[in-house]
Order: sequence, then structure tokens, then C-alpha cells
Amino acid sequence: MIILGIETSCDETSAAVVVDGRDVRSNVVSSQVDLHARYGGVVPEIAARAHIERIDDVIAAALEDSGTSLDDMDAIAVTEGPGLIGALLVGLTAAKTISALSGKPLVAVDHLHAHVTSASITLDHDPFPAIALVVSGGHTSIYHVQDPLEPQLIGQTRDDAVGEAFDKVAAVLDLGYPGGPIIDKTARDGDPKAINFPISRIDDRPLDFSYSGLKTAVMYHVFGHGEKYGSASKLSATQLADITASFQRAAVKPLVDRTLRAVEQTGVRRVLVGGGVAANSALREMLTERCTAEDVTLHLTPMRYCTDNAAMIAAHADRLARADRFAELDLTPRAGLRRPRGAKSKSS
Ligand code: KG4
Ligand code: ZN
Repeated sequence: MIILGIETSCDETSAAVVVDGRDVRSNVVSSQVDLHARYGGVVPEIAARAHIERIDDVIAAALEDSGTSLDDMDAIAVTEGPGLIGALLVGLTAAKTISALSGKPLVAVDHLHAHVTSASITLDHDPFPAIALVVSGGHTSIYHVQDPLEPQLIGQTRDDAVGEAFDKVAAVLDLGYPGGPIIDKTARDGDPKAINFPISRIDDRPLDFSYSGLKTAVMYHVFGHGEKYGSASKLSATQLADITASFQRAAVKPLVDRTLRAVEQTGVRRVLVGGGVAANSALREMLTERCTAEDVTLHLTPMRYCTDNAAMIAAHADRLARADRFAELDLTPRAGLRRPRGAKSKSS
């Protein structure tokens, strides 16, 4: 089965052609990071406008790179949520238009479910049942995945997402945007135990996360209460490295602890990791170490499929299409967490 995937849920305009969920023939990603950098975060209206300007070229490039044409497609897949409404609407409109004009069926993909299963793109088998950790700018979630079409959410953040914490701490330290990759790099020269930032625990929901306290602790550390630098500009390179390394350890450790707790709780000894923050080197290292020590199989999503991309959308859509779960042309975008509205069986 050959599928054209389209992804526009946040600030990456992406299109990909994937055969049988694994053979990625093309994966074009046009990032808008430069447009949002000066605002320190994604501006929804700017994102939607940039998607409109780029979507046609990105789809054309994905088809060209793959050496295929629309005629070759078995289905058109698109992210229907969660995400920014205006941004989603652009991808959805493109996919629905192509579907209507070509007569190819439409598949609606949940962005988070695509992150959940993204590690399988480069495996030669489906890695389920599994515990999946999805860590991105908008989400910090643990899923129990028995059926990849119905991942069960068993843990999530109570406030900020972990990627958001990386971005906000980088802003506090004047390091630039997006913060994740910059903190990852800066932290390499630092001592992760230099500062004892709090590692949150939620007693009544042991698989949940909280990141707002950690962000506040870094702010106090920089601007006052305790060590009073007053401003990030007064920090030396060593201090910056120690602060970022210590923050990163406090951000990453609960992800690893909760994931292995989910393994214990469910008895499922296989872990998948996806989402933008899955690119973090400290997280990859700590997870590899702990999973090896505890004899748990770990599948880290390859870096190119960690941050938002349409290959994971087309790959996940392959499963939905094989299960006959197609969407109707009245499909609408969805901002928050819930089941895809348009995903219903063609035969029902
Ligand atoms: O999955 P993604 O591309 O978009 C969302 O769906 O949110 O994730 C983007 C997030 C940003 O917060 C970015 O700072 C973070 O992933 N990120 C990282 C790294 N690379 C990207 N965070 C930590 N370390 C990294 N190396
Ligand atoms: Zn994402």
C-alpha cells in the first residue's frame, strides 16, 4: 500500500510518501523555526499562514522525491489533531481536496498515535505490545499499547509539557529558540549534579508528570532566591553548562522512572520512545542504560522521525487503512486530546 501523508499540526509543513508503513520514499519537512524564533514560541496565525504558503510546494516535492504521482497512491493521510486549529486546517483542506479530486480515500491520523508508533518505521516487525513514551513540545504522555490503533493513555503531564519546559528554560537563560537542542548541546559540558533542582512526584497518580515547578526553580536560581545572578547575562559558560545539565537531568529522570514503572505495572517489557524530546541525548542515554540494566527491550525512534514529520503520519495511516478506517470528507480539525472524529470504518 502506498500512502501520501500530510502533517501541519504545529510549525512544520511536511509531506511524505511511504510504502507499506516502512519504506519511506520521501519525507519533506519545511520548518518554520526561523519565523517563530523572535517570539520565543509558535505564533498560531503565523504558523497557519506559512503552512498555506508552503503546502503545495512541499506536497509536490514529496511526490517528486519519491518518483511517484498521485495516481500511484492508495490513500491520502492527514493529521487531524491534536494541534493548532488554523495550522491543522491547512493540511486537512489540502488532503480533502486531493482526495475529492483524485477519488483516493482519506485517512485521518491522530498526531500522538503517530508519535507512539514512529519507532516501528525502521523495524522489520511491529513492536507491540509496548509501553510508549511520547515527549514533545505539547505533550508528555505514557501509553500502554496493546493495539497500535487504540493506544491507552496511562500517564500524562499535569501542567507543562517537557519540551515546553526545555523551551522556557532556554528563554530564561537567553539561549534562543527552540530550547531543546540548544540545552542538549550546552549541557554537554556541565555537571548534571551541580544544582539540586526538584524532581516532581505525583503521589496519587504515579505515572503522571509535572514540569511547572522545575521551570520556576530554574527561574529562581537565575533571577533570585538562593544564588542571585540577577540576569542570565551574568552567568559564566561553566555556570550555564551546570544549570542546563542539572535542569536536563531533573527533566529527563522522571521520564525514565515513570516509563520503567509502567513496565513494572503492566509486565510489558518493551519500550518505544517518540516525539521531539526523544531526540535528547541525555534521555536516550539514561533510557538505554536503565533498559539494558533491567532487561527491557528499547526502541528509540530514529532522530529524523522524532520531530514532527509526515512519514510517521503516512506510516501510521497504513495501519488504519488496512483496518478499513477511512475518514469522510466532512472531517474537521481537532485542537485537543480525544479520538479522531472522522476515523470510522468505511463499511459501517
Ligand atoms: O514533536 P515536536 O517536533 O513538536 C510537537 O509536536 O511539539 O517537538 C518539539 C519539541 C520542542 O519543545 C523542542 O525544544 C524539543 O521538541 N526538542 C528537544 C530536542 N530536540 C527537540 N528537547 C530536548 N532535547 C533535544 N535534543
Ligand atoms: Zn509532534
